[in-house]
Amino acid sequence: MSKDHLNYLSGFGSEFATEALPGALPEGQNSPQVCPYGLYAEQLSGTAFTAPRESNRRSWLYRIRPAVVHKPFVPIKHKFLESDFSKRHPNPNQLRWNPFDIPDEEVDFVNGLRTVCGAGDPLSRNGCAVHIYVCNVSMTNSALYNSDGDFLIVPQQGTLDITTEFGKLCVSPNEICVIQQGMRFSVGVQGPSRGYILEVYNAHFILPNLGPIGANGLANPRDFLTPVAWYEDRDVDGFRIISKYQGHLFEALQGHSPFDVVAWHGNYVPYKYNLKHFMVINATAFDHADPSIFTVLTCPGTKPGVAIADFVIFPPRWAVQEHTFRPPYYHRNCMSEFMGLIYGNYEAKEEGFKPGGASLHSMMTPHGPDVDCFNGASTAELTPVRVADGTQSFMFETSLGLGLTQWGEETCRKIDSDYYKCWQGLKKSFDLNWKPTPKK
Ligand SMILES: [Fe+2]
Repeated sequence: MSKDHLNYLSGFGSEFATEALPGALPEGQNSPQVCPYGLYAEQLSGTAFTAPRESNRRSWLYRIRPAVVHKPFVPIKHKFLESDFSKRHPNPNQLRWNPFDIPDEEVDFVNGLRTVCGAGDPLSRNGCAVHIYVCNVSMTNSALYNSDGDFLIVPQQGTLDITTEFGKLCVSPNEICVIQQGMRFSVGVQGPSRGYILEVYNAHFILPNLGPIGANGLANPRDFLTPVAWYEDRDVDGFRIISKYQGHLFEALQGHSPFDVVAWHGNYVPYKYNLKHFMVINATAFDHADPSIFTVLTCPGTKPGVAIADFVIFPPRWAVQEHTFRPPYYHRNCMSEFMGLIYGNYEAKEEGFKPGGASLHSMMTPHGPDVDCFNGASTAELTPVRVADGTQSFMFETSLGLGLTQWGEETCRKIDSDYYKCWQGLKKSFDLNWKPTPKK
């Protein structure tokens, strides 16, 4: 894990202002007749102009050239990026993937994108997608932006040095970052790198409401970090601007770096968050809280409390519940649950679910602890114990049905066809003569 020596602004959804040169931000207005230093003013709108004030997101960028100075877009091919999730026959099975391979040949972040599953479509701005990225070289003289939605990026191996129009982010495993719709960014890596991406088409991620928890807890706003302004005035012969647009990639050439924003202000920004700062709240008397108590970020849908997608983590914590089966309960869910593991072992399945791998429990598909976990937790002495130390697993949970891609189901060749066996040894212990154990 490399050290992060960058400077950041702290807060979630805040109105930020930052300048890399003194006086580069216009005072008292957004679009003066002439901007300081001869910069161009450009607004990046992340919500409709007329979105309610509390959800309105936009930023003003003051840059050496406006983003529009580029040649026409032309389509470029990508073998494993997918946005049509109805191509294949549905598969309701419990699925588990062994760790996805990082190629030996040189591949950068864009070429290393592989779509596993998804729902909906970007044209109607409804749906989400789960991608894996695997790469080993930095993007050079190229930048990506997503016209279709937001990327929530979860590095699992290797630190990402991300240059954005807003400045630089250093994102290591156990941190996440969100690059929102339209923001141009370039990913640098220091070696073989792998991670997970949750893409949402509908809306932007927000912090979940806390209700009776109160004003503090779970992911606290001050722990979200946004870059300070950083720019380069660099002419490049053929800098590639790559747009993911309606599920396909397009490329436009321009003669300069797009990272030429000298100052910016606004509340539509990229940000990162360290999962170690998550303030865990859990059951302290009995029973097992629903995993929603571990929600870091949510992309809300139109029905109250029903998310397009939630990002949920299972962090190190204490388990103290009395007379309780403490691991995750057996479950059938009207939502789809995609899980990944950043490091360590997942508590409900010590074997088979590995860092860099994944699992998918689709709508109404049963899942839960494996045999060893059930037997162990049913007989364990219920003293206070640490849970999940040295691990970090997470879940992308969506109210949408997820369709698998060909890469996810076949090409990656990582599906563990024996997964179902982990539950086959759950024995019948039903006994008509059963008597409760006398309470001590
Ligand atoms: Fe579940």
